[in-house]
Amino acid sequence: MKYLCYDKTQLMRFFLLGLLEVLVITLKAQHKTYSVGAISAAHPLAVEAGVEMLRRGGNAIDAAVAVHFALAAVYQVAGNIAGGGFAVVHIPEGQVLALDFRETAPMAATADMYLDSNGKPIKRASLDGAPSVGIPGTVAGMKMLHDSLGCVSWQECLQPAIELAKGHKLTKYMADHWNNNAKEMLRINGQLPSFLNLYVPFKEGDWLVQTELAETLESIAVFGSDSFYLGTFAQQMAEFLKSKGGRHTHEDFALYRALWRKPQLISYRGYSIYTMPLPSAGGIGLHQFLKMAELLCFNRVKPYTVKYAHFFAEMAKRVYADRQRYLGDPMAVDQIEIQKIQSEKYLKSRAASISKRRITPSDELGASQSGKIESFQTTHYCTADSSGLIVSITTTLNGYFGSKLYYKGMFFNNEMDDFSTAPGHSNQFGLPYSEVNKVRPGHRMLSSMSPTIVVKDGKPIAALGTPGGSTIITNVFQVIELMIRGWGLQSAIDQKKLHAQWLPEDLIVEKGALTPKKLRKLSRMGYNVQEIEQIGIFNGIEIQDKKMIPAADFHRKGNSAAGGL
Ligand code: DON
Repeated sequence: MKYLCYDKTQLMRFFLLGLLEVLVITLKAQHKTYSVGAISAAHPLAVEAGVEMLRRGGNAIDAAVAVHFALAAVYQVAGNIAGGGFAVVHIPEGQVLALDFRETAPMAATADMYLDSNGKPIKRASLDGAPSVGIPGTVAGMKMLHDSLGCVSWQECLQPAIELAKGHKLTKYMADHWNNNAKEMLRINGQLPSFLNLYVPFKEGDWLVQTELAETLESIAVFGSDSFYLGTFAQQMAEFLKSKGGRHTHEDFALYRALWRKPQLISYRGYSIYTMPLPSAGGIGLHQFLKMAELLCFNRVKPYTVKYAHFFAEMAKRVYADRQRYLGDPMAVDQIEIQKIQSEKYLKSRAASISKRRITPSDELGASQSGKIESFQTTHYCTADSSGLIVSITTTLNGYFGSKLYYKGMFFNNEMDDFSTAPGHSNQFGLPYSEVNKVRPGHRMLSSMSPTIVVKDGKPIAALGTPGGSTIITNVFQVIELMIRGWGLQSAIDQKKLHAQWLPEDLIVEKGALTPKKLRKLSRMGYNVQEIEQIGIFNGIEIQDKKMIPAADFHRKGNSAAGGL
């Protein structure tokens, strides 16, 4: 095993430098602490909706439900009714639960549904309009969470969202997103929602009124999830999707279930990390990442050095190569292989194959084709209360406004693209084709979303997560790893991010993460380095002795906000 080795002087230097960094960062970050409850989410009005639940005596679950539906009204680019996601929940007794409300493929879906008669992929078929839509899980997921642990009424939890749908002021970020996507919305729908006008773009501060959305939310508030999955509304949605080229039926909606799953538990340097199991690749990916990091003493490598970037990229490559080969819906995977790739023996050999200098060519880890990472949109939110109830949720429509197909105030997801839809072709995140993740009726498409809760000595210390498609796993790894070095959640979030994923073979670097000299050195080593403006938008909550300190990506592009009582 090629562990990294340091002499005592080097270790002392790292220790002192690290200590200094931690001190500076801690001084810079003067964060608000809350004792009743705290919220961190992608939009200030959604945070306010959660805080309102706390004011009414609600708990972290009530706040989460309020935040979720509020995001559907104010952050439509990713917030959703017709999407899906994952929740990791810490309950006061200490147990951690995982809820899967991921979309499913319609029962009439087939592995070749995105191929033409010559077996070639039909351009954008899994990304645009009705064919790209998975059966949404959000309403079932929120209702399941609320029925299990909520304390104020379901109607009350939806009320803030209904008010926001009736009218709210647009932020610049959301005005820009509406303007940038309006043309595509018109192309896909043949018309625009009544509040959008191609020739009169939105600007910051404009008042957005979404009457249809308010009506849809009201019906969900009054009739619960049955109205969405069983009643006339479900029938109409299925007919609408079918009329637009989808294969959805009323039965697909009736069959949909949110599922409780055993969370993935990872032990890393004395911490317990709870995250999402399959159908998210996040759990197994983070397990492999953190275990390799532990074996390689990665915590002793100074962040943002060439060595750090190289070891990070090599571990990421191995994680993503296994993801492509083995991971998919739990019903499709080979459980023996799943056990094997998480075993100590296997991970030791994977870590040992990392050289200090040489880049492992991707085809040594399994040959496949390359692709491009294009889109970065989803959202994460966290809520916590003084009882010890903590909720960490990542939810998505997949692309910006999902399929962009608009119906009764909602945008439908385009989650079908997370399946492997065409042999030899990658999806929008550059993730290569994988047999185990091919489209199967009723199955859930493999995800990267990794809502996480970190526990130390039986006590939760943080909840966190981010959007970013395939970059989610590498970025959640980075934040957890830095936090456990002692950086504090906010400081860890503020740090620049790196990403690598086996294929494409690029090392993706957030601008400013590495100096030009280091970038040149990595290029000379053989890395295809790509600098990009931003990776991820984190939201999290740090917990210190019952005090809750929400953290968020306040400095990156977005609307991230935090608050509490
Ligand atoms: O489930 C997944 O992994 C993707 N559908 C998530 C999409 C995403 O994060 C988009 N970008 N930020």
